[in-house]
Amino acid sequence: MSRFAVIKGKHYRIFFDEELKSLRRFLRRGNYSSVIILTDSNTERLCLPKLVELCKLKNYHSLSIQAGEENKTLSTAEKLWEQLLPLADRKSVLINLGGGMITDIGGFAASVFKRGIDFIHVPTTLLSMVDASIGGKTAIDFANHKNQLGTFAQPKAVFISTAWLNTLPKEQLLSAQAEMAKQALLGGLNEWQQFVLNIDKVEFIEEQISEAVKFKLKITDKDLYEVGQRKQLNFGHTIGHALESFCLLKEKPIPHGIAIAGGMICELYLSVKIFKPTENIFSEQIEFLKNNFPKVDFKEKDVDDVLSFISSDKKNIKGIIKPVLLKRMGKPYWEKEVTIDLIRECLNYYNQL
Ligand SMILES: NC(=O)c1ccc[n+]([C@@H]2O[C@H](COP(=O)([O-])OP(=O)(O)OC[C@H]3O[C@@H](n4cnc5c(N)ncnc54)[C@H](O)[C@@H]3O)[C@@H](O)[C@H]2O)c1
Repeated sequence: MSRFAVIKGKHYRIFFDEELKSLRRFLRRGNYSSVIILTDSNTERLCLPKLVELCKLKNYHSLSIQAGEENKTLSTAEKLWEQLLPLADRKSVLINLGGGMITDIGGFAASVFKRGIDFIHVPTTLLSMVDASIGGKTAIDFANHKNQLGTFAQPKAVFISTAWLNTLPKEQLLSAQAEMAKQALLGGLNEWQQFVLNIDKVEFIEEQISEAVKFKLKITDKDLYEVGQRKQLNFGHTIGHALESFCLLKEKPIPHGIAIAGGMICELYLSVKIFKPTENIFSEQIEFLKNNFPKVDFKEKDVDDVLSFISSDKKNIKGIIKPVLLKRMGKPYWEKEVTIDLIRECLNYYNQL
């Protein structure tokens, strides 16, 4: 891919631009009454100075929140709104400079502030480039449950630069690779083989990000509000979110993708149990996920706690749990009810791996 490229979504554009000239142009043309940049404590230090320099920003305000999923909360959002009050009006723009935590909470805060102000995403983690900044879901966690409050709201644009990845810790790269593995499983056998072949080839990173963005946009542009095929993107997330919430509750947060890798192993196990395929499918994929991603640590006695998070998953309707399953590679199915006993079995299976 060239050093500058644009992907046109139905609602906004995604710019691949290492020098962020397109962002500079966007801000100039937007003629905004004020520009506010939201960072977390890490991106404030590692990314904000570079963004200000590259975009030659002079008149801007910056707001920062403590890094970490445990801060993606209503009380943080409330503090943000208090800080926005004297700085922002309906012609202001909020730039979310950070990982998925920042794009989720910043998108949420902007989408309801004065009934919605413009916001843009400048994702700085691989996970936010390939997933969180795309698709227009915003969220905060509530009452220890992941993403319970949120809106569907589209950014005005997304600006991706792989230069941010130079400072990203390795476990955060791994976290993103889990979401990319999810996309490969949903894509089909070819996509999976390509993913496995290229997973560690840094020279393909821009290609991989671009493919991931196109994959997610293709689905979310057709089904913005998740009434149909967008549901497939929740593969690994019914159990993954429960594992992530459980670790948050125990004050041992884990990267989002690591929880999703665990969730995918469990949901592949459920898929085999439910669809009973004749061939031995998914054993290679389970083995790959097991070998490439750290296992989520919980004890047998904790299974009930994890199950209670699954029972209160926001996707459940009338308490019925329908995780996304795979009939085979590239064939997701999301209409099958799964019993709590079978989910308990898959958690015990995962725990003993
Ligand atoms: N809205 C969506 O569609 C969607 C999709 C997937 C995930 N998510 C959400 O995204 C969040 C996870 O995103 P994440 O993995 O990016 O986590 P994150 O935003 O918490 O970032 C992970 C860590 O990396 C640090 N960091 C960010 N950029 C950095 C850089 N360039 N160099 C060094 N450190 C940097 C952060 O400060 C943080 O400590 C979760 O809250 C998840 O629910 C949302």
